[in-house]
Amino acid sequence: MNRFLTDSQEDIERASNLLQSGEVVAIPTETVYGLAANAFDEQAVARIFEIKGRPLIDPLIVHVAGFEQAEKLAICDSELIQAVSRAFWPGPLTVILKKQACVPDLVTAGKDTVAIRMPGHPLAHQILAACQLPLAAPSANPFGYVSPTRPEHVRDSFGTKVSHIVDGGPCQNGLESTILDISNESEAIIRRPGPITKEILREKLGVDVEFVRAQHSADETKSMVSPGSLKKHYSPQTRLKLVEKDNLHTIVGDAQKVAYVSCRRSAKFENIAKDCDRFWLSESGDLKEIGRNVFDLIRQLDRLPFDLILIEKAENEGLGITINDRLTRAAAQ
Ligand code: TXA
Ligand code: MG
Repeated sequence: MNRFLTDSQEDIERASNLLQSGEVVAIPTETVYGLAANAFDEQAVARIFEIKGRPLIDPLIVHVAGFEQAEKLAICDSELIQAVSRAFWPGPLTVILKKQACVPDLVTAGKDTVAIRMPGHPLAHQILAACQLPLAAPSANPFGYVSPTRPEHVRDSFGTKVSHIVDGGPCQNGLESTILDISNESEAIIRRPGPITKEILREKLGVDVEFVRAQHSADETKSMVSPGSLKKHYSPQTRLKLVEKDNLHTIVGDAQKVAYVSCRRSAKFENIAKDCDRFWLSESGDLKEIGRNVFDLIRQLDRLPFDLILIEKAENEGLGITINDRLTRAAAQ
């Protein structure tokens, strides 16, 4: 049976004790739910890979409670990491840095770098502070499937394989953290777009940062800079197709059982497609709301008897770039 843990002191201690004794526990973060284990315990980390069905060549993010803990895991003496941590931690930004020798190769997939993040969700922070361990945690979904933004998503995917799920409610961002590679001091590269956009990074850090999209097919993983940036990812069982913004109405009339998903509630579309199964990701088109809802809605639709989920792209700027990145990969064949 699964057990949902609450934010009570007793349950935080329970989660912390389980982690200290080598168990895998699902924890909430402000981005998505994570499957957490003591980053120094190789057996516990191996169990994460096993539960997720994740290839061992795909490294994990290590979550920390404070900057001192990050310094034990990675080389944190550049000006840039100091500025990044001051501006964005705790929060939805992961940095890639040169690792310290103590970080197990299993966590970093043998790389000389490690991904580190200090989550902003109060429950994640309280658990990290209570167990006093760095926690390796990938998103708590089966490898390749849609990320979990609610505790029920973790239960639905893993059943009893994950015995304890800490319930922190729905995730505030609903999209995974931005990954910023600063392992080479002379350049900062976004490896995965996320809630912290390149405009925000530029504004707060005063440096230019580019998103370098890694385009790889599944069998190319060995040579990847960021192995998890596969072309196909976040995919539901039901076929998902993306259409350009405002073009949803042009596809109406397909014979299959189609779920039409617009970014915002639109009178135009409602008028044209009266008899269609229509869904929307936000009332007003607000990108934060779309980001918060997108994985949850795809998961809901995936449980219904549709042959096709047709989704309209978000506007391709700011957070919309992150949303479109996830949608494009969910739609990839
Ligand atoms: O929001 C998030 O980041 C969530 C929550 C749970 O913290 N975690 C998450 O982890 O999305 P995961 O494992 O699903 O995605 C981590 C990504 C993968 O694409 C992995 O390849 C990349 O980070 N990564 C980890 N360590 C890396 C490294 N040393 N160099 C390059 N990429 C790395
Ligand atoms: Mg993931």
